[in-house]
Amino acid sequence: MYCVRKVTEDLYWVGANDRRLTLFENIHPIPRGVSYNSYLLLDKKTVLFDTVDWSAGRQFIENVEAVLAGRKLDYLVINHMEPDHGASIEEIILRYPEVKIISTEKAFLFMRQFGFSIDGRIEEVKEGDTRCFGKHTVTFVAAPMVHWPEAMVTFDTTNGVLFAADAFGSFGSLDGKLFNDEVNFDRDWIDDARRYYTNIVGKYGPQVQALLKKAGGIDIKMICPLHGPVWRTDLGYFLDKYDKWSRYEPEETGVMIAYASMYGNTEAAANSLATALVERGMTNVVMYDVSKTHVSQLISETFRLSHIVLASVTYNLGIYPVMHNYLMDMKALNLQKRTVAIIENGSWACKSGSLMRDFLENNMKQMTVLDEKVTLSSAMREDNLDEIGALADSIIESMKNK
Ligand SMILES: Cc1cc2nc3c(=O)[nH]c(=O)nc-3n(C[C@H](O)[C@H](O)[C@H](O)COP(=O)(O)O)c2cc1C
Ligand SMILES: [Fe+2]
Ligand SMILES: [Fe+2]
Repeated sequence: MYCVRKVTEDLYWVGANDRRLTLFENIHPIPRGVSYNSYLLLDKKTVLFDTVDWSAGRQFIENVEAVLAGRKLDYLVINHMEPDHGASIEEIILRYPEVKIISTEKAFLFMRQFGFSIDGRIEEVKEGDTRCFGKHTVTFVAAPMVHWPEAMVTFDTTNGVLFAADAFGSFGSLDGKLFNDEVNFDRDWIDDARRYYTNIVGKYGPQVQALLKKAGGIDIKMICPLHGPVWRTDLGYFLDKYDKWSRYEPEETGVMIAYASMYGNTEAAANSLATALVERGMTNVVMYDVSKTHVSQLISETFRLSHIVLASVTYNLGIYPVMHNYLMDMKALNLQKRTVAIIENGSWACKSGSLMRDFLENNMKQMTVLDEKVTLSSAMREDNLDEIGALADSIIESMKNK
């Protein structure tokens, strides 16, 4: 059975929700599922914007058929060729053999690489090109490396709708609610939106900044992303988040304590530090056991907050493997501009602190590591409490300079 939503008088959401998938891109947990958004414009010509993942193909085809209501499909615009959006292209070609595909040169190359038969139906476009479908005229804007090289966004100059590809997307399935004003985004969606952005697109901050600059020059009234809610009010809220994330600026002054502890002693130091911070008036403190928290969540929180505390045991003369993996992911996603405090622990040759400092200072950009640190020899002792207090003071002091 079809399940669609009207977006504007002649534009329909014909996408699908996936609540069965455990891991997005087979790596990021999505307990709230994900939506694959596709949009169908009924103008003089009929135009489909992107398709959906293969797993959602049946729902998608039923939706497209229902909205077309017997009309043929004239055009398929592909903004992004990653298979979570491009996988159903061939199914569309088979069902609508007259369809012409509008996309970039690189996207057509990828379609061929993925094995699609597209000869005789391609219309290559580049930045600044326009197409008129009747009432609606659209223009194409290149969005290279947001987050694939072929990506573009399409702007409908007639009604101000931006088909934004993966930009402005979010994890989370749409439970009947399509528009941002039908949900409490800041309460129920922002964490998934941040986890989506930081882990999927986070590495490409400069490219997102370039796209935001271009977007600043057009009068966007609505943003139709390929995942998550459609934005039709309060666009500034989400544009501001994107601006901050892509400049690697924290959203909030606060402390994330990420700890790695096998037997609880390093965790005890992390607890003491959290308590010391709160006692000094800094209540925006969150704690994560790196062994129990998916790294995508750690990354998301690292993008959110200004100060990070890394508390790690030494493990076979190295950093605890899960903490090491988190650090590697931070670097891979280009995270910058954070103030970091270190707590280390070792029972015979303590190395984790100096190794973490070295990694932050020499492998990452614009990371400030506080001089003050806490070193435990197996377990917290009374005198460590003074060091914890001094570390809390140093963290609070560094917040004043920001
Ligand atoms: C498998 C293993 C390897 C360790 N390797 C080292 C090491 O190379 N150097 C060291 O000083 N401590 C080492 N430790 C001790 C821990 O760093 C730490 O002092 C101890 O686990 C207590 O902290 P916790 O209660 O937070 O786990 C090791 C512990 C384990 C279980
Ligand atoms: Fe993508
Ligand atoms: Fe996507």
